[in-house]
Amino acid sequence: MSNYFEERVLSVHHWTDTLFSFTTTRDTSFRFKNGQFTMIGLRVNEKPLLRAYSVVSTNYDESLEFFSIKVPDGPLTSRLQNLSVGDPIIVGKKATGTLIVDNLTSGKHLYLLGTGTGLAPFMALIRDPETYERFEKVVLVHGCRQIAELAYGERITAELPKDEFLGEMIRNQLIYYPTVTREPFRNRGRVTELLTSGRLAEDTGLPAINTETDRFMMCGSPQMMNDLKGIFTQAGFKEGNHGEAGEFVLERAFAER
Ligand code: A2P
Repeated sequence: MSNYFEERVLSVHHWTDTLFSFTTTRDTSFRFKNGQFTMIGLRVNEKPLLRAYSVVSTNYDESLEFFSIKVPDGPLTSRLQNLSVGDPIIVGKKATGTLIVDNLTSGKHLYLLGTGTGLAPFMALIRDPETYERFEKVVLVHGCRQIAELAYGERITAELPKDEFLGEMIRNQLIYYPTVTREPFRNRGRVTELLTSGRLAEDTGLPAINTETDRFMMCGSPQMMNDLKGIFTQAGFKEGNHGEAGEFVLERAFAER
């Protein structure tokens, strides 16, 4: 039996010269938890060329969605960025990953901290009713260099609050905090600085972070995660994983080539 589903591209959206997203058909037997990733890719000379991608769409959507950077010489993304509707794509049958709510102990506030394509797993989590059942407030921070890279902002602010089933939870419980580091914008600065300076707390109106009430998920570059992990560990937060739930969990943003 093959390890892959054979899917087809349904739509492609180019956000910037370096960022794009696309949707594909979804085999009805493909199961995953919101926040997880799977291997996806193309057959090149009959051989699968795959990379890990977090699933942007939720486990109750009929199609799959992925968010990717474009690396000019990247073996996979240089090809993926030229995808057109109807093209074949392979999707690994086994999804996995640590960014699932089960890996966190109970708390009041859930912070989802993503930079660049590290937003992807959080797009699924903010559309999962369980996220809002487990936490009173969900703060989604998306950090990018430029405003144009704040992908999905419109969907989060304009579409999701009107969603028939999730709208009320999203309006009452979700705080979206986009931030930019390399041009003027209403929110500026790295996620790490926003946390340590108290700026994020000030802007969201939530209390300063503390181990009793706050839980964190993060997804970004290895350096960003190291820095955040340092901040949380020093503040007394415990890392969680599949074996034992904790107060923060992390996953590297994939899709680098
Ligand atoms: P900066 O512009 O100050 O480097 P990248 O595209 O390099 O992955 O960066 C995406 C966003 O993440 C940028 O806003 C960048 O800020 C920020 N960033 C990069 N490294 C870190 C880090 N170690 N900690 C927090 N934010 C970071």
